[in-house]
Amino acid sequence: MNKNEIARFDELLLAAKAAYHLAYAPYSNFHVGAAALTKNGNIVQGCNVENASYGLTVCAERNCISNSVINGEQEFEVIVVYTEQDKLTPPCGACRQVIAEFFEQSAPVLSVNHKNEQKVWTVQELLPDAFTPKDLLDL
Ligand code: THU
Repeated sequence: MNKNEIARFDELLLAAKAAYHLAYAPYSNFHVGAAALTKNGNIVQGCNVENASYGLTVCAERNCISNSVINGEQEFEVIVVYTEQDKLTPPCGACRQVIAEFFEQSAPVLSVNHKNEQKVWTVQELLPDAFTPKDLLDL
C-alpha cells in the first residue's frame, strides 16, 4: 500500500468502528460495523440491525451496501468488517452473495478486530463460482 492507500484504509477502519458503535443488536449483543470504499472514492457505512422477529435481522455488510445504493453509489473497491471479537468475523453466506453482486471478484474483503488483527479474502475466495449479474444479464 502507498501512503494514500494507507490513509484511506485508516479512514475506512475508523468508519467501520463508528458504525460498530451504532449497531442495534440487543438480542445477540454481537455488534458489527462495516465500511466500504466506493469507486468514486467515498466511504459508506453500515451496522447490523436486529429485530424481535429474529429472522428479519440484517447484517452490517448488507446494510452498508444498501445504504450506498440508496445514495447513488453501486460500485465498490473494498469492504471492511469490524467487530470486537477475538475471532475475526467473516461475512455470512447471505452477505457474501450480496458482496459478489457489487464488488469485483478480485476485490478485498477485510475483517478487523479491536486488537487490530486482520484477515483478508478476495470476493472470489469467499464465494467461488458465484451466481452474479453476468448469469442473468448480457455482460
Ligand atoms: N452479523 C453481521 O452483521 N455481519 C456478519 O458478518 C456476521 C453476523 C450480525 C448478524 C446478527 O445481528 C449478529 O451479527 C449475530 O449473528
